[in-house]
Amino acid sequence: MNALGIDIGGTGIKAAVVDTTTGAFITERWRVATPEHPGRQALSSAISEIADHFAWRGPVGCGFPGVMRRGVIQTAVNLSPELVGWDLSAHLAEVFQATCPVINDADVAALAEMRLGAGVGVRGTVLVLTVGTGIGTAVFHDGHLVPNLELGHLILHGKDAESLISTPARKRADLTWMEWAGRFNDYLVYICGLLQPELIILGGGGAKKPEKFLPYLKSPVPVELAAFGNRAGIIGAAISGSEQTADSRPATV
Ligand code: BGC
Repeated sequence: MNALGIDIGGTGIKAAVVDTTTGAFITERWRVATPEHPGRQALSSAISEIADHFAWRGPVGCGFPGVMRRGVIQTAVNLSPELVGWDLSAHLAEVFQATCPVINDADVAALAEMRLGAGVGVRGTVLVLTVGTGIGTAVFHDGHLVPNLELGHLILHGKDAESLISTPARKRADLTWMEWAGRFNDYLVYICGLLQPELIILGGGGAKKPEKFLPYLKSPVPVELAAFGNRAGIIGAAISGSEQTADSRPATV
């Protein structure tokens, strides 16, 4: 089935029509810059640009960088507190004239990887980590998702882990890739101690240049790069849209 996947991120809102059986993009990816600290009005204008561009009639799904419950935004740490409490799913349903599930961005990226990418057929606990403006975390166990885990905000060295290992944190502190990987390794040891995953799948825009950091990565468990890279969010959003799972429970694989 073809569905429109929308991935709302800290710097860009990206979308494409996706063949949900393969993950292939049927259209070019289209990107609109995320307004700075967007309120509801600014975010809905950006979404309208996406809607106008695609003029899509059909299933739609969306990933959002915060905790989502039944389509309502619960947290939006890298966007704006003004968004909390907004029924984004209902808003998108109006814009696209279709039911539109909105699910945490790391959860949808993980859904794509588990269904069609690096996690296919892996049982036990799989941890998907996305590195970008925020640190996204998603856990599948025997093919079932535990939604909204938010483990990017674990306290590491006395600080919110995200503030040490996200892409803006790396740039802000002008870290070399070796220095960044050193911090990331500490995070991996911590999170692996908590979850004991069989496999970690690493994706997000901040993992786009693996040759820069892989030589320094020391993980207690095997790490695989996301098969779909930074496209996983769009693909997973499209998959959830095609399945009409509007209540934050997208995912069995
Ligand atoms: C948010 C998560 C999100 C992650 C990646 C974090 O700051 O709290 O909900 O999945 O960033 O965007």
